[in-house]
Formats: sequence, structure tokens, C-alpha cells
Amino acid sequence: MSERSAVMALIGAGPVGLGMAKALLEHKIPYEQLEADRELGGNWLHGVYETVHIISSRKTTEYTDYPMPADYPDFPSRQQMLDYLRDYAEKFQLVPHIQFNTKVVMALPLPEGRWELELASGEKRVYKGLIVCNGHHWHRRFPSYPGKFEGEFLHSKDYRSPVQLAGKRVLVIGGGNSACDIAAEAARVGKTARISLRRGYWFLPKTLFGIPSAELMKPWLPVWAQRIFIQLFLRVVIGKYSDYGLPEPDHKIFEAHPTINSELLYYMKHGRIQPRKDIARFEGKAVHFVDGTSEEFDTVVCATGYHVSFPFLPPGLVKVKGSTAQVYGGCVLPDYKNLYIIGTSQLRYGFGPVVTPGMDLMARMMLAQDQMELPIGLVMKESGVKIPRTHLVDPHAAIRAIRRGKRMLPLLLWKEKKLRKTLAKPAVAPPTVPGSAVPQINRGLEVF
Ligand SMILES: Cc1cc2nc3c(=O)[nH]c(=O)nc-3n(C[C@H](O)[C@H](O)[C@H](O)COP(=O)(O)OP(=O)(O)OC[C@H]3O[C@@H](n4cnc5c(N)ncnc54)[C@H](O)[C@@H]3O)c2cc1C
Ligand SMILES: NC(=O)c1ccc[n+]([C@@H]2O[C@H](COP(=O)([O-])OP(=O)(O)OC[C@H]3O[C@@H](n4cnc5c(N)ncnc54)[C@H](OP(=O)(O)O)[C@@H]3O)[C@@H](O)[C@H]2O)c1
Repeated sequence: MSERSAVMALIGAGPVGLGMAKALLEHKIPYEQLEADRELGGNWLHGVYETVHIISSRKTTEYTDYPMPADYPDFPSRQQMLDYLRDYAEKFQLVPHIQFNTKVVMALPLPEGRWELELASGEKRVYKGLIVCNGHHWHRRFPSYPGKFEGEFLHSKDYRSPVQLAGKRVLVIGGGNSACDIAAEAARVGKTARISLRRGYWFLPKTLFGIPSAELMKPWLPVWAQRIFIQLFLRVVIGKYSDYGLPEPDHKIFEAHPTINSELLYYMKHGRIQPRKDIARFEGKAVHFVDGTSEEFDTVVCATGYHVSFPFLPPGLVKVKGSTAQVYGGCVLPDYKNLYIIGTSQLRYGFGPVVTPGMDLMARMMLAQDQMELPIGLVMKESGVKIPRTHLVDPHAAIRAIRRGKRMLPLLLWKEKKLRKTLAKPAVAPPTVPGSAVPQINRGLEVF
């Protein structure tokens, strides 16, 4: 067991982990960054198909303290995103702090807020704390239908290149960004392309008036006004979704993560993509739909999204309801010191504008925690900070919340002292961490 009790462990060197690392360096918080892969970049290294271009625009995706190169297009490619992340890490000297090929397989809370980590190599280390930036677009969510499909059945995560679809009869399931990208790819290279939708979705074009859609959504424009503006635009430029054989959306714009794609409707008007209803059952290579129709396919791609999960933490330590991690302020728990769960929310546009100020706030919270005895999550909970109701995040609202959070930190320090006095009563018998025998505090003074 090697002791690193003055150092924070940071899991993940994707865009969020890199932004976190920069903030830790700036605030002089000692840390080691543990990355399972051979290189940095997260999804942009290993988790997206080779032809992908971002949907969030360059300006709404770049870190606010490190603009993307001026010659980048509005929607950079995977390679450009990866190059940008590598440059960011070089510029802020993050690379020497990253330990590559270092996968964390287990993390357990210890007394005094320390964390014991076990690596895939079998090595065990004790850290001062744990910052989790393990991403939430990797744990495949599969739909389930009666019967068995006897062709190729894969998740969008395992779709890498158009070669996989060439000459095939392809059915894509889902109405999100993966589904639309892959259906459009199948329209270009496949024999046939179909998309199965279980309900109506808002398909928004990548640009409006030649400007990336995300950039038109100004912070000063209230969401209701954004909705009216987009709906008017869509009616003029696209018409009704039913004109394309699609169901009309059953929810308001932004009540689901926006699907931003200019190709789906284009290929539908060319007959290259045809919409299908939800799936009723499989039978050999035949797919039966709920409207009674059926069709044979070679390949079914489930673009049905991802679970949020933390396989290295004791089961149930971080609860997840739907896709929303049950963490106060979107990052901490009341029962554990020095545990920060970061980046589980689904931003409406790109990561950068929220990651830069958000990770600065996280680092400040860690410094504030050092001045507290109680877990900062408990203090936040007792101060009225809530668990987010949804994983969907409006970036403008998030930036406002981050500013409020910074202003609130001195108040939290004061509140902690007060709370400590209130709680200085005989402690209740501590419950245990699910799946382990480690004692856990619950509002008592007996902190790790
Ligand atoms: C097809 C696709 C397109 C996308 N397009 C956009 C877009 O247009 N704009 C946008 O903003 N976002 C987009 N995203 C979302 C994308 O997930 C984010 O841009 C970003 O990669 C999230 O960063 P992250 O650091 O949270 O997670 P990740 O990028 O997933 O990085 C997490 C890192 O943690 C490491 N890790 C995980 N577990 C462990 C462990 N146990 N031990 C050690 N290391 C570990 C992983 O190896 C990985 O390097 C897209 C996602 C997909 C799948
Ligand atoms: N070009 C790009 O930049 C690009 C491309 C791909 C992905 N991304 C990003 O990557 C992230 C993940 O996107 P994603 O599209 O993979 O996942 P997603 O946004 O979670 O979308 C999943 C889709 O599958 C549907 N679905 C889920 N379960 C289903 C079931 N059992 N049967 C039928 N449909 C089901 C969902 O519909 P319901 O709403 O009804 O649940 C939703 O339409 C997002 O942040 C996205 O923006 C970006």
C-alpha cells in the first residue's frame, strides 16, 4: 500500500478531467491524474466514430481560457478535437501529472476522508481524496425486445467507420445525435437506411442563418423565448415533422437533450432514410414494428444512449436516478469528505464554457473543504443546495449557478462552524457503506 495522503487522485484525462487538472494546478492543489487509456482525450481519443464532427460549435465547446485555432471550422472533426485537447494539455503543462495505462478498479472511503484506490495492476494506494471525471458516454444502454435478431446487432458506441454499414440494410434505433449521424451515414453507404423512433423529437439544424444554432441561444434570451424563436424558424424552413413522415414531438424543445442534425430530414426527403415506428419484436433477420409492418435487416444499431455509472465505487455509494447522479450541487455527497463526482450532467451544447469556470469552483470547494471538519456536501445540503432534478443542463443557467456558487463559499465556511456546534451531540450509530464494512457518517460529528 503506498501512501499519498497529501495528494488528490483525479480519475480520467478526458475534456473534463483535463479542465479539472488545470484548475488544481492553478490553485496549487497536489494531485495525480490516473488515466486508463494510453493517451489523453477521453471520448475524442477512443469513444467516437471516425467521421464525427461536433454538434456543439467551436465557440460553444472551447475552454473559455483556451480558444480553438482560428482556422478551425464551426464544427471541428474528431481529429481536430483531439489535437485541440493535446495542445491544451501541453500549454498548461498537464501531461507530466498524468499516469497513463492506469485504470482504477476500486475506490473505498477510509477514515479522515482519505480514499483507498486499487489499480488494475493490483497496486493499492491511499490518497487524500478522489475526483471522479470518468465520463458518462461509455456504459452502453441497450433496448430490450422480445425475440432475437440474427443479423449484426451493435451499440452506437461500437460503430466506428462507414465500412461497417457499406452495402447493408441498416436499422438505427433512437432519436438522438448518434442515431441521426449513423442513419445519415447509412443513407450514404448502406443499401437501405431506416430509423426507428419510439416518440417524436425536435430535430434542429446545425446552423440557423448560417450561424451554429448553439451560438444563437444567447444568455440573455430566456428559454421560453428561445423556444418560440426556434419553433418559428423550424416552421418556415422545415415545415411540419409530419411532412417527413415523422411523429410530432411530444415534449417542449430542450425538455430532452437537443438533436442537432441537418442531414436526417435532407435524406428523408430523398427517400434515403425512412422512419419506422418503435420495435415490437425480432424474428430472425426480420424486425416487426408496433404498427404491424415488418422488414428484414442486416444490421441493427442501437443508438439508445448510456448509463451513468461508477464501476470502481461501492455499489449504491453514488445513487443514479434515470441518468441523474444523486449528488448535491451536482458534485458532492453529504456523507463523504473529499469525494467529487464531476461531469455527469448532459450539457445542452459544448463542454468548455462550463468546464473552465466549473472546475475553478471545484478547486475552490476543495480548498474550502480543507478548512472544514464536516463534509462540504453535508454543509451544502443543510444550506439548501439540492440534488439536480435532471441531468440535462442549460449551459447559461450552469454558468450563473457557478458564479453563485463562488459567492456562496465563504457562507458555507461560516455555516459549517454553526452546523458543527449544532451536531455536537451524542453521535447516532453510523450506518455502513453499501457493499463494504466501512463506517459512514450521517449528520454526526464523526467524520472520516
Ligand atoms: C459520438 C459523440 C459525439 C459527441 N459530440 C459532442 C459535441 O459535439 N460536443 C460536446 O461538448 N460533447 C460531445 N460529446 C460528449 C463527450 O462525451 C464530451 O465532449 C467529453 O468527451 C466528455 O468528457 P469527460 O472528460 O467527461 O469524459 P470522457 O471524454 O469519456 O473521458 C473520461 C476519461 O476517463 C477515463 N476513465 C474512465 N474510467 C476510468 C478508470 N476507472 N480509471 C482510469 N481512467 C478512467 C477514460 O479512459 C477517459 O479517458 C460527444 C460524445 C459522443 C459519444
Ligand atoms: N455529432 C455529434 O456531435 C454527436 C453525435 C452523437 C452523439 N453526440 C453526443 O453524445 C451524447 C450521447 O448521444 P446519443 O445520441 O448516443 O444518446 P442520447 O442522447 O441519450 O439519445 C438516445 C436516444 O435513444 C432513444 N432511446 C433510448 N432508449 C430507447 C429504447 N429502449 N427504444 C427506443 N429508443 C430509445 C432516446 O429516446 P427517448 O428520449 O425517448 O428516451 C434517445 O432518442 C450526447 O451528448 C450527444 O449530444 C454528439
